[in-house]
Amino acid sequence: MPNPHLRDKLIAVAPMMAWTDRHCRFLHRLYSPSALLFTEMIATGALVYGKQTHQLDFDSSQHPVAVQFGGNNPADLAVCAKLAQQWGYDEINLNVGCPSDRVQRGTFGACLMREPKLVAACIAAMIDAVDIPVTVKCRTGIKFKGADERYANAEFLLEFVDAVHAAGCERIYLHARNAILGGLTPAQNRDIPPLQPERGKMLKAEFPKLQLVINGGITIRQQALDYLEWADGVMIGRGAYHTPLLLSELHQDLNSPEFFVDEQNFLLQYKDYMLGQLAAGERLHTLVKHLLHSFNGRPGARRFRQTLSDHQRLKRGDSTIIDDALSHIFGAAA
Ligand SMILES: Cc1cc2nc3c(=O)[nH]c(=O)nc-3n(C[C@H](O)[C@H](O)[C@H](O)COP(=O)(O)O)c2cc1C
Repeated sequence: MPNPHLRDKLIAVAPMMAWTDRHCRFLHRLYSPSALLFTEMIATGALVYGKQTHQLDFDSSQHPVAVQFGGNNPADLAVCAKLAQQWGYDEINLNVGCPSDRVQRGTFGACLMREPKLVAACIAAMIDAVDIPVTVKCRTGIKFKGADERYANAEFLLEFVDAVHAAGCERIYLHARNAILGGLTPAQNRDIPPLQPERGKMLKAEFPKLQLVINGGITIRQQALDYLEWADGVMIGRGAYHTPLLLSELHQDLNSPEFFVDEQNFLLQYKDYMLGQLAAGERLHTLVKHLLHSFNGRPGARRFRQTLSDHQRLKRGDSTIIDDALSHIFGAAA
């Protein structure tokens, strides 16, 4: 039996643009039957004005899945929320953490933290439109040119979360570092501002009914388990993408100690999936890229990556590339 203390805790794979597409989610679902999987961020404009509803498509084998929206207009978000519910998503999440210039130009993502009332209005509009949970992913605060420390201090975070929680958001995913708007690239913004998990602890103490899912820098099992001593869940981004086995370990810890981890089998299932996707017109490179890091640090990993990076074979759509790559890890019979 899993540790009863861990029974109601959540493991989530973070939303990651260009990474957590539907193929990546298929792979992650093999590694963990239970983790909550996030889509990449979808801008509301793409759905409301661009009519690109195909961006919402996903395979029903991937449940539970949360869709993340980027936007700042309550009416548009309500329209998108209804679509998400219609498409069968399990949760809708609003991005209040992305620091990219493109997102800032659209005045959504992390810069929305400055406007707790607007975020609350967005949440309320979505909650009004649907029956599934509506959640927020945010930073501990933001810093930008010309601003004093106001938006990065603990009081401001409390004010922000108070507004969002009062609007009906029952779960917050806290990327536990500030976002620096201007001056840092999105990648630097995921590493340079120091982690402040104690701010998550503070929120949990202040808002006992709020579910607090902590995010940032989790790469190993024990780190996740330590956070779960006080947090309601952990969200893992790069750690899950680069070491999907971590998801299996946590599934065993939280849900099912007897879960049998057979990576060769996972990858063979993914290969079957790939063949179906290729037949439906998907590009080989798009399917293969999620596998590149699967075996980092293990014998054969370098040759595995090299094989999967052969541009000529990828261009030709040569699907035998995966058997060849797997043979470096599991031997020729793979
Ligand atoms: C390639 C990449 C793309 C990302 N895209 C998004 C995104 O679309 N929405 C979002 O809220 N966060 C995005 N993030 C941030 C992650 O969700 C997560 O908060 C961050 O990577 C910190 O968690 P980690 O240390 O476990 O990776 C992205 C991160 C990466 C590495």
